[in-house]
Amino acid sequence: MSTPVKIAVTGAAGQICYSLLFRIASGELLGRDQPVQLRLLEITPALKALEGVVMELDDCAYPLLDSVVIGDDPNHVFDGVNLAFLVGARPRSKGMERGDLLEANGAIFKPQGRALNDHAADDVKVLITGNPANTNALIALSNAPDIPAERFNALTRLDHNRAAGQLAIKAGVPVADVSHVTIWGNHSATQYPDVFNARIRGEQASTVIDDTAWLENDFLPTVQKRGAAIIEARGASSAASAAKATIDHMHDWVLGTPEGDWVSMAVPSDGSYGVPEGIVSSFACTTADGSYTIVEGLEVSDYSQAKIDATVAELTEERDAVRSLGLVS
Ligand code: NAI
Repeated sequence: MSTPVKIAVTGAAGQICYSLLFRIASGELLGRDQPVQLRLLEITPALKALEGVVMELDDCAYPLLDSVVIGDDPNHVFDGVNLAFLVGARPRSKGMERGDLLEANGAIFKPQGRALNDHAADDVKVLITGNPANTNALIALSNAPDIPAERFNALTRLDHNRAAGQLAIKAGVPVADVSHVTIWGNHSATQYPDVFNARIRGEQASTVIDDTAWLENDFLPTVQKRGAAIIEARGASSAASAAKATIDHMHDWVLGTPEGDWVSMAVPSDGSYGVPEGIVSSFACTTADGSYTIVEGLEVSDYSQAKIDATVAELTEERDAVRSLGLVS
C-alpha cells in the first residue's frame, strides 16, 4: 500500500462531516487503494463531540483509514496536509448583517489560510465548503501567499448536481444522461445554472426540454433556492448531498473529469467571461493531472451574460467588503 494521504477537515463534528468523513475513510474520495490519514479540526467546545465521531470511525474498521488526529489548533492539524476541506464556518445568526457575517468568517478563514501557508504540504489543494464559500476561499487564499491561488477552490458542485438532477427529472432520463452542466458565479441565490450549454443525451438541454417558462420560472429558482427549501422541509441544512458534492469536487480535481464532460468549480478568476480577475467564481472546468482548466469559448447569450454579471456583481461586493475589513489585499 502507498503512503497515506494527509487530509485535513474542519468543522469535523458538524452535520456535513458526519457524512463526509466516513465517505473519505471508505475510499470514495481517492479510490480503494489509497490509505488516508484524517486530521480533524474543531473549536474547543466541540472536541468532545468529535471524539465520539472518531469512536465511530474506529468502529467502522475501514481498511484504508491509517490514523486520525484531532485538535483545535490549525497549526498542528494542518501539518503536512495534502488535501484540506474547510467545512466549518460561522453561520448567519438572527439579526446578523452581511458585514458581521463576513467579519466572523474572516476570523476563521484568515488564520486557517495562514496555518495552511505555514504548515501544509507543498502540493496542498484546499476546498472551501463553509459559507459564504466563495468569499471564504478568497480570504483563505489571500492569507496564504506562498500557496498558488489556484489551489484554493470553493464548492458549487452541489448546485451543479442539483441542476443535473432537476434536468433529468424534467426530461425523464437518468441523471447519467445529463452532461455539461455549468453553474456560474456565487454559491448563493444569485448563482446562474446554465441550461444552454448543458446537454441531455448529447443534445442541448434547453432544446430537449423546450419549455422556456419552466426553465425560467421553475428550474432556475429551484436550483438557486434549493438550500432554503431543504432547510424548510428538513429543519436542517443539506448535509449528505453537500458531503457527496464535496467528495465529487475533490475527487475530480485530483483524479480528473470524465472524458468529454466538465464540472462546475468555483476558482480564482483569470478574467475569463468578463469575471474580474482574482475573485473566486464558479466556471465550467475540466481537470487533468491534478490541475483544472476553465473551459473557454462557451456560447454566452445576452440573457446568460446578464445573469452571470448579476452573480459576479454580488461576488465583487463581497470582495470589496472583506477588503475594507482588511481580510484580503
Ligand atoms: P454545522 O453547524 O453542523 O457544523 C459546522 C461545524 O464547524 C461545527 O461543529 C462548528 O463547531 C465547526 N466550526 C466552527 N468554527 C470552526 C473553526 N474555526 N474551526 C473548526 N471548526 C469550526 O454545519 P454543517 O451543516 O456541517 O455546514 C458547514 C458549512 O457548510 C456551513 O457554513 C454551511 O452553510 C455550509 N454549506 C455549504 C454548502 C455548499 O454547497 N457550499 C452546502 C451546505 C452547507
